[in-house]
Amino acid sequence: MAFEWHSFPEAKAAAEACAEHVAREIEEALGGRGYATLALSGGTTPKPMFARLAAMKLPWDRVHFFWVDERAVPPTDAESNYKLAAETLLVPARVPQRNIHRIRGELAAEAAARAYSQGIREFFGLDPGEMPEFDVVHRGIGPDGHAASLFPGQPLIEDRQGLAAAVYVEKKSMWRITLLPGPLLAARNTVVLASGPDKAQALRNIFNQPYDPVLYPAQLGARESRPVVWFLDQAAARLLEGADGAG
Ligand code: 6PG
Repeated sequence: MAFEWHSFPEAKAAAEACAEHVAREIEEALGGRGYATLALSGGTTPKPMFARLAAMKLPWDRVHFFWVDERAVPPTDAESNYKLAAETLLVPARVPQRNIHRIRGELAAEAAARAYSQGIREFFGLDPGEMPEFDVVHRGIGPDGHAASLFPGQPLIEDRQGLAAAVYVEKKSMWRITLLPGPLLAARNTVVLASGPDKAQALRNIFNQPYDPVLYPAQLGARESRPVVWFLDQAAARLLEGADGAG
């Protein structure tokens, strides 16, 4: 598997480079079609990426926002992925409400996943079995190699039909709602942003172990022809071959 990755001395620089890459892909999509679709992740790493994006002069009223995953909490909760994006990107960039297609974490997780799937189907005008092609999907990784809210061993990692599902994450003792591999693999572009020493071993496994996304969910997409570009800080990249040079 060939991975395109770039490493930066600091997490902030990795996040900003990722933002610039995302902006270029969005501009390209806007040029061709007049609107663009971007699916965001949560966690803590993306904050400087969202801030950098918010500072850019993009036509935000033509960008539609979706989420890769969400915690089953209300949008006002500190754990909400929507809340992070709202505060650092959507509000500062004045993204119109009609462009925000959030996962309704305040609903029962199964109902939220159904509503989100339905919303995606309607937005993209999908026929049964068709997958949405987000212009950009932004993902993070967990220290265990999880991607979206697909944790190692999760049987849904083999699903290629569904759009989104509710998953109970033992490790976090919480329900989450996540995009499934179908939409993740169908994305026109994927960026993965990861930083910090706790991601180093996971990255080594993801990049070097044989393809097995049930074991290493973040490998999803590594075998597809669609581009996946990784933005890492040095701490996260330190166990990768070539980590001493530019990625
Ligand atoms: C979430 C995510 C998740 C995240 C990783 C990394 O809701 O937690 O979207 O997949 O990308 O867990 O999280 P950190 O940025 O906090 O390390």
